[in-house]
Amino acid sequence: MQKNQAIGIFDSGIGGLTVAKSLSEELPNEQFIYFGDTAHMPYGDKSSQEIIEYSKKIVEFLISKNVKLIVIACNSASSVAASVLRAQYFRQVEIIGVIRPIIKMCIEKHLKKIGIIATKATVESQIYLDIIKEYNADIDVYQKATPLLAPMIESGQQESEAFNHVLEDYLKDEQFRDKEAILLACTHYPIIKQEIDDFFNHKKIILDNAKPLANEIKKYLTEKNLLADIKTKPNEFYVSRYSEVFQKTTKTFYNQSIQIIEKKV
Ligand code: DGL
Repeated sequence: MQKNQAIGIFDSGIGGLTVAKSLSEELPNEQFIYFGDTAHMPYGDKSSQEIIEYSKKIVEFLISKNVKLIVIACNSASSVAASVLRAQYFRQVEIIGVIRPIIKMCIEKHLKKIGIIATKATVESQIYLDIIKEYNADIDVYQKATPLLAPMIESGQQESEAFNHVLEDYLKDEQFRDKEAILLACTHYPIIKQEIDDFFNHKKIILDNAKPLANEIKKYLTEKNLLADIKTKPNEFYVSRYSEVFQKTTKTFYNQSIQIIEKKV
């Protein structure tokens, strides 16, 4: 691998942009190649087999773009597909998921009562519970599937009345009451972080995958001597189906108009 190769990132849609943005800030010299699988969004309601199949095609596309590392900027795919992808592609490329870094951060912060909101695929995989157990941590965890959130965010409905009702309905769950932190275990949710923080009257720590993951990736690239010295090429953005919301979201995130390329995989 060479320092000047790009970093590949993927998600089912705009969610991974929350991760990509944080990575760009932490690693300004890197070129990123982003793939949003908008044609198959939402991943959270799909079977593990389907998520694995979609993810493999994206990984192969990113490998064809000669990336030095692939970041699965999606909790659903990190939950059910990461180990399969690593086993299949370990000779070609390193693949990093979003889950372990955020859990490590919770452990380091000595959090004892955590509420998790995520897609159905992530919750059903039980991966957050399993990894937390690995650290032998005495943490009280309550996880709740909130399947309507990501598709509504992806279609740009987060400012609607209907969205507020859906969100409130999920968050008023009694089980969240005594939790000190709420973990946004879907990369779409940082887009509504403010609304979630408001709902809990700013009384809970709201955590998401982006920052701890960016730190982990910086550490990995530094250790492997793969940090780019200078940015030589612009980022590239691909989607499997053109989406107005995707276009708008990249503009908001990067403060400039971004060219989106439609690419079927
Ligand atoms: N952003 C994704 C996640 O972190 C996927 C949401 C979806 O497509 O259901 O789980």
